[in-house]
Amino acid sequence: MAQANRSSLSGSPRTSRRPSRLVWLIPMLWGPLTCMASETSVDGEVVPPTEPADIAAVVDLIKSSVQADFDQTGHAVRDAHRKAHGCVQATFTVLDTLPPKLSQGLFATPRSYPAVVRFSNGSGQSQDDRTGDARGMAVKLMGVPGKKLLEDEASAQTQDFIMINHPVFFVRNASDYVGFQRAIDGGTLRSVGWFIGHLFHETRIALAIRNKEVSNPLNARYWSMTPSKLGTEQMKFSAMPCVGSTFVEASASRDRLRDNVQGQLASKAACFDFMVQTRDRPGEMPIEDPTVEWDEKSAPFTKVARIDITPQTAEQGEACEVRSFSPWHAVEAHRPLGGISRVRKNVYQTISTLRHRLNGQPRVEPGAKVE
Ligand code: HEM
Repeated sequence: MAQANRSSLSGSPRTSRRPSRLVWLIPMLWGPLTCMASETSVDGEVVPPTEPADIAAVVDLIKSSVQADFDQTGHAVRDAHRKAHGCVQATFTVLDTLPPKLSQGLFATPRSYPAVVRFSNGSGQSQDDRTGDARGMAVKLMGVPGKKLLEDEASAQTQDFIMINHPVFFVRNASDYVGFQRAIDGGTLRSVGWFIGHLFHETRIALAIRNKEVSNPLNARYWSMTPSKLGTEQMKFSAMPCVGSTFVEASASRDRLRDNVQGQLASKAACFDFMVQTRDRPGEMPIEDPTVEWDEKSAPFTKVARIDITPQTAEQGEACEVRSFSPWHAVEAHRPLGGISRVRKNVYQTISTLRHRLNGQPRVEPGAKVE
C-alpha cells in the first residue's frame, strides 16, 4: 500500500517550474505517514492506526455494561446473545473428497470431531422469541490438535465457528462500532439518531436481520459474516439445514425457539451442511468491510463438512451458559480476519473472563472430550 502510493507520486509528470521546498517535503513524509496509516497483510488486512484505541473503547463500554447489570441483579450474563435456546451435542465430520484449495487446515484431514452447538438470540436482553432479532449458532469442535491463537489458551483443543442467520454484519469496522455502541448507550434519542444517520446501508442491514422469521433454530441458515483464513486462502463459512430435513415448529410461546429445539430433538435428529466460500475476486470481496456480501454467484459455497445432531435433551441453564465461544478459539490456518474480528478478539476474551469471575465460576476451555 505504502509502496503503491510512493511510486504514483514519483511517477507524476515533471513541470518546468521549480517546486517550492514544501513540495519536496511531501514525498519524504508520505512514506512514513502511509506506513502509520495502514499495514496490508497477505490476507488483505489493513489495520487503521486508531484501531487499538477503538478496540479499548469498545471493551470498556461492554465491560461497564456487564458490570452495571451484575451490580443490579447479582448475576453476570453475556452482553450479546444472552438468551440461549439450548446447547446441543453434535458431531462435525470433515468430508473426504475435497479439492486441494479447500483441503487446508482442519479440512485437510477427513475425520469426525465431537462438538457442542449453542443456539441464541442476538439481543443483550432475554426477550420474547417472537420479537425480531438475529439468531446465533456457535459451534465448538473438540479434540482439535495444534496450537491455538489465544495466548492464554494456546493448548486448548477447540476450534469455534460462530455464525448468525444473515450473510452480512451491520457495522463496517472498529471505529464505526465505537460510534454505534456510544449511541446505543446514550439513550433512545442517540440510538434513533444513529439509525437515521446510517439509514441507507447499516440500518437496512440491521432491519433485514431483525425481520427474518425463524421458528426453529434447527431450520435456519447461518453465515460467519466476517472472513477467516483457509490455509493459504481466505474464506467465509455458512451452515445450512441438510436437504430433506423436517422440523418441529409447533410452539408459538415466548420461548418457542427453545421449545421447538426440544420438541424436535425429543425424537428426531437434525443436521447441517457446513460450507465454505473462498475469496476468488478480491476486488469485490473485502476483508475489512463485513457489511459487503461475498456474492454467492461469483464465489459459490462448497460443502466441506456435516454437522449431525442426534435426538437428545438439549443442555439448558448454567451448564450451557458457562461455555465460552470465540472466533479466536482457532488454529492459525483459520485465523479470523478483518477489523470487526480484531475487536472481537479482545471483547469475547475480556467479557467471558469477567462474567465467569463475577459469578465465581471457573472458566475452562474443554479438552478432547465434552465436559
Ligand atoms: C464488534 C463487533 C462485535 C461485538 C462487540 C460482539 C460482542 C459479543 C459479545 C460481548 C458476546 C458475548 C461473549 C461472552 O460473554 O462469552 C458475543 C457473542 C456472540 N456473537 Fe458477537 N460481537 C460482535 C460481532 C459479531 C459478529 C460479526 C458475529 C457474526 C457471526 C457475532 C456473533 C456472535 C454470536 C453467535 C455470539 C454468541 C456466542 C455464544 O453462543 O456464546 N458477533 N458477541
